[in-house]
Amino acid sequence: MSARIAVVPGDGIGLEVTREAVRVLEAASARFGLELSLTHFDLGADLYLERGEAITDAEFEALAGHDAILLGALGDARVPGNEHMREILLGLRFGLDLYINYRPSRLLDPSLSPLRGADENPIDLHIFRENTEGIYSGIGGRHRVGTPDEVAIQEDLNTRRGVERIVRAACEFTRDRGLSRLTMVDKANAMPAVGGLWRDVFAEVSAGFDGFETDVMFVDAMAMDLVRRPEQYQVLVTGNLFGDILSDLAAQVVGGLGAAASANINPGLHALFEPVHGSAPDIAGTGSANPLGAIACGALVLNHVGGADAATAVQEALEASVAEGPRTPDMGGADATEAVGAWIANRVTHGP
Ligand code: NAD
Ligand code: IPM
Ligand code: MN
Repeated sequence: MSARIAVVPGDGIGLEVTREAVRVLEAASARFGLELSLTHFDLGADLYLERGEAITDAEFEALAGHDAILLGALGDARVPGNEHMREILLGLRFGLDLYINYRPSRLLDPSLSPLRGADENPIDLHIFRENTEGIYSGIGGRHRVGTPDEVAIQEDLNTRRGVERIVRAACEFTRDRGLSRLTMVDKANAMPAVGGLWRDVFAEVSAGFDGFETDVMFVDAMAMDLVRRPEQYQVLVTGNLFGDILSDLAAQVVGGLGAAASANINPGLHALFEPVHGSAPDIAGTGSANPLGAIACGALVLNHVGGADAATAVQEALEASVAEGPRTPDMGGADATEAVGAWIANRVTHGP
């Protein structure tokens, strides 16, 4: 198997965690005889501040030409409004039409969950977040800025086609994994137009599937229930903004944002993998960032490019590190980012 992978470490801890993900990918590639070629792209705040352009057309095309993109995180206080992050990350999501944002949250160890009773109830949640529409569409603006009459408008764009394809992806996933429940999350009580479209499409599309139950929930109640009884849920499908918020919540419920991975996918065409977390300026440079989210993205990358055995080995090593290896401070340990990455790479090289 050979694959070309673009690596965009980005800003802040993105650089630190991506280094460890690459270390693990290289170990997996050597152990399983994969021909992975990794190309680094130094896109991020530094380059943007230096040249005034976040991503050129040529860079966009180069990224698009890879089998997968691995991204660390983007966000830097020197760029007010983080235009570079929007141009690069949202630019790739929208420009490559990566309409599925898949964010899994599985409890690896009950001691990691802030919830009581987590040891009795295995949490294994899969969030399907619509990734190309909603409030992220960038429609609207500020008017009469700075005056008492200022107006800010940000439109929530939802198309039948856009809702259909993410709902269908969630239905197919639920069926293919043999799961028994798919829940659509919206705010139809306060947003009846958008919620109405989502509910109609959810009912229509899911009617074509057998073997699992479907239900709908309001996002505020879902936020509450993800703390009260997260083990009740299996697959959630929702819009862009609610998916963003619920995926941070779900990540923390199973032990930490630092360990959460995500896949941005346009099936058969393009895929970008990134940890759910951001550039974490509060801990950047301290060498204490948790690399598990980025390393889990490495496993998703391997799976995506046809290296299923290598992906399984990385996931096994990651889980072993939680059980018996070093942990960063966010997981109750005192170990460094690099120590975790090196431990997992070593385990991938030598096996359990
Ligand atoms: P954040 O995810 O960067 O950090 C939130 C909190 O979680 C912080 O306390 C941070 O220290 C902690 N944290 C996050 N990742 C961690 C890790 N791997 N190990 C240990 N602790 C971790 O969110 P934020 O502070 O709201 O955002 C910082 C910047 O990142 C902003 O510019 C934001 O826009 C950007 N951001 C980018 C992405 C992305 O590139 N995909 C995602 C989220 C936020
Ligand atoms: C994420 C991030 C992004 C989002 C930001 C950085 C725009 O929070 O990937 O979850 O909201 O999608
Ligand atoms: Mn987010």
